[in-house]
Amino acid sequence: MRTVKVRTGGNKSYDVRIGGGLLCQAGRWNREIFPGQMAIIISNPDVDRLYGDMVRQGLEKEGFKTVSLLVAEGERHKSLDTAAKLYAGFQKARAERFTPVLALGGGVIGDLAGFVAATYMRGLPLVALPTTLLAQVDSSLGGKTAVDHGPVKNNIGVFHHPGLVIADTFTLGSLPQDEVSNGLAEVIKYGMITDRPFFNLLEKNIAGIRALEDQLIEDVVQRCVYIKARIVEKDERDNGLRNTLNFGHTIGHAIEAASDFRIKHGQAVAVGMVKASAISNRMGIFPSKDLARLKDLLLRAGLPVRMPPVDMARVLLAMDHDKKVVDGKTRFILPRRIGRVFISSDVSFALAIEVMESDNG
Ligand code: NAD
Ligand code: GLY
Repeated sequence: MRTVKVRTGGNKSYDVRIGGGLLCQAGRWNREIFPGQMAIIISNPDVDRLYGDMVRQGLEKEGFKTVSLLVAEGERHKSLDTAAKLYAGFQKARAERFTPVLALGGGVIGDLAGFVAATYMRGLPLVALPTTLLAQVDSSLGGKTAVDHGPVKNNIGVFHHPGLVIADTFTLGSLPQDEVSNGLAEVIKYGMITDRPFFNLLEKNIAGIRALEDQLIEDVVQRCVYIKARIVEKDERDNGLRNTLNFGHTIGHAIEAASDFRIKHGQAVAVGMVKASAISNRMGIFPSKDLARLKDLLLRAGLPVRMPPVDMARVLLAMDHDKKVVDGKTRFILPRRIGRVFISSDVSFALAIEVMESDNG
């Protein structure tokens, strides 16, 4: 098992524990932290079928009564409506201030369960049990929770850190291949924003990573978690440095929203990274050979590099609502070279549109 500690404000910290077969320890580790009698598990039917019993048995062995609340699959359900249903479930279960909420699933379940845990009774403890690559390397740590609203992704949310993250890499074995690719978009993002040697490692080992070779996947998850932890520790509330984690997300989130979430987060971020890089390239900053390397790696990771057929007006509307908009200006995270990015408010919508409409971007 590998452990990455994440320090948060007020001298607190939590562990991200990474390794194969860790989920069966969830009961014991929860008991070490929580004295109560009940635990609530939020999941979706597919993930619950695969891993719910293992988590429930572990918790029950430690004397927890378990309550499972299931949410229908899909980003569409990361909404205030679903949150309201979960609040009703908490009331029915008679959840108390210190009842732990366990988020078992991918980023959709993590964001939603985190949001509900953060807001019910002004905050219940949260434990993340991420079961997708994307959730293990990104969404399960850092404390961002949210639901989507209208045309805008993650429009309503709150910061709420988990007390513990258990990233069982064996659970990735049941993911469809395109979900592994989705997670790889965020993995490649870390190489792009801050870690050129990691990008090189990904280029060399992408086939083995896609095949989920045990040591390789643990190395990758640990490296990503380590990078994110160090960034979040320096800028927990996303006022500057943390923005860089949104490389590829300005256009990516807009693509997701404009496609009514038919296009998955990772796929949209992949295209968003290419387009942000192409913008930087047109501004004379990001070298063409680095752009070619990025596209090649994304393709080899099973990800798209071209704009999907979405309504450009809706993409622009969503970009206009982006949380990074400051004083009416959309801020882009642009690469200087592989391993280095900067924040820019100087990208005109005209250039962004031109690049999005071009197949060469
Ligand atoms: P997801 O949660 O929709 O999961 C993808 C699919 O995989 C779902 O169909 C799910 O049922 C299935 N699944 C999950 N685990 C499985 C397993 N082990 N075996 C088989 N199937 C499994 O998608 P995601 O890519 O994990 O997360 C995307 C979400 O994460 C988006 O809503 C995005 O906004 C959010 N996100 C949040 C943050 C953050 O910091 N909070 C960061 C990045 C992304
Ligand atoms: N995934 C972006 C962030 O955590 O800030």
